[in-house]
Amino acid sequence: MPTKKHATWGGRFTAGPAEAVQRFTESVSFDHRLAPYDIRGSIAHAKMLAKIGVLTRAECAAIVKGLDQIGMEIAAGKFKWRADLEDVHMNIESELTRRVPAGAKLHTARSRNDQVALDVRLFVRDQIRLVQGDLRDLQWSLLMLASANDDVIIPGYTHLQRAQPVLLAHHLLAYVEMFDRDHSRLTDAFKRTNVCPLGSGAIAGSTLPLDREFVAKELGFDGVTQNSMDAVSDRDFIVEFLADGALIAMHISRLAEDLILWASAEFGFIRIADAYTTGSSLMPQKKNPDIAELARGKTARVYGNLVALLTLLKGLPMTYNRDLQEDKERLFDTADTLRSTLGVLADMLLNTRTVNEHCEAAASDPALLATDLADYLVKKGIPFRQAHHIVGALVAEAEKLGKPLNALPLETFRALSPKFGSDVRQVFDVRRALAARTVTGAPSPANVLRQLKRWEKMLSK
Ligand code: ARG
Repeated sequence: MPTKKHATWGGRFTAGPAEAVQRFTESVSFDHRLAPYDIRGSIAHAKMLAKIGVLTRAECAAIVKGLDQIGMEIAAGKFKWRADLEDVHMNIESELTRRVPAGAKLHTARSRNDQVALDVRLFVRDQIRLVQGDLRDLQWSLLMLASANDDVIIPGYTHLQRAQPVLLAHHLLAYVEMFDRDHSRLTDAFKRTNVCPLGSGAIAGSTLPLDREFVAKELGFDGVTQNSMDAVSDRDFIVEFLADGALIAMHISRLAEDLILWASAEFGFIRIADAYTTGSSLMPQKKNPDIAELARGKTARVYGNLVALLTLLKGLPMTYNRDLQEDKERLFDTADTLRSTLGVLADMLLNTRTVNEHCEAAASDPALLATDLADYLVKKGIPFRQAHHIVGALVAEAEKLGKPLNALPLETFRALSPKFGSDVRQVFDVRRALAARTVTGAPSPANVLRQLKRWEKMLSK
């Protein structure tokens, strides 16, 4: 605040720092996004004030009308935000009061501390539902790619080395499972977010007989917070959203990594449509999976947002501290990043096709069935450890001769174990091998088909 003394000897001294402080402390440049929630909260608060007799019916009606109008102007981009009014709350309240005298009563028994806590809860609540919808869309895209190619076999990998044959659909459905757990984590977070903090005031509630339950009901909350100090100062529900978001981003990033590998010439399992790839400014032959790479890259900022918020909160004494204003950009960034990434990945997958001859060629490597060969011996009474050793020796022999495992003569097999019979040839039939994987969760075609049906039923709800 410029003091009188300063003002007498020149505005230029006071104007400089005051503006810098204003620029440093304002939040309206980003929290204007909370306007629809701020207005909904204010309308509910006004109705409650009328119910308990603080506002007359006419005053309440004028306030609601004024807020509705301001809301429409904001939505139309016609509202003039003023940085000197600091934040979204003060901007709306001051404009309301300019238009409607009773606006001066709106802040009765309310502080910006419980007001902002309310606004962010309403925002997170919406974002949870939106991100959940995006997760469902991505699951659907994965399911579509899986079911359109439900007989395509690829090698499954461990250590990025070919391990065992699986159905491509099984691989894709693994991500459908991951995103489903992400969805349910958000459902869980929703419960703790959906509690109304309004009525907590600045820190210690109010001496006026507020009807908090009424406000909660108006705004669709499941209940009201039970400790005013907790309600104005904790942001753990945002941490939960950001943490759930970090897990989603981690799953997105893993999917992106697989897609990038699959789109490479080395794998060649998929082709992403041109519209979802980019070229190189130098190398004319290049077709880059930039969407998947950016999806993987954006995980960094989503993790960063979580760590930033945890760090922001860890040293705060009770109760509200202005530090909390820093929660919003982190929250908005995670919400926006998740939404755009999930959306574009879902679209990209709908525009991706498998290259079946490459998948087939990679999956027909007989070494992928070495475990099945050991199982063959186990079924003939050989202890697994011993069987593993015998097959290992066979693999080494094949490598030495530069031949695929199934090209070794039967005598070579029998030299290592007399239990090998001519039926050992069947082990190298990859479709037969897959069909035998009927254990729950394993990729037999029958199992995978059942899973595809289960997800289709579940996701088309
Ligand atoms: N812009 C502030 C925030 O985001 C609103 C609450 C301000 N409260 C206060 N006592 N200064 O946290």
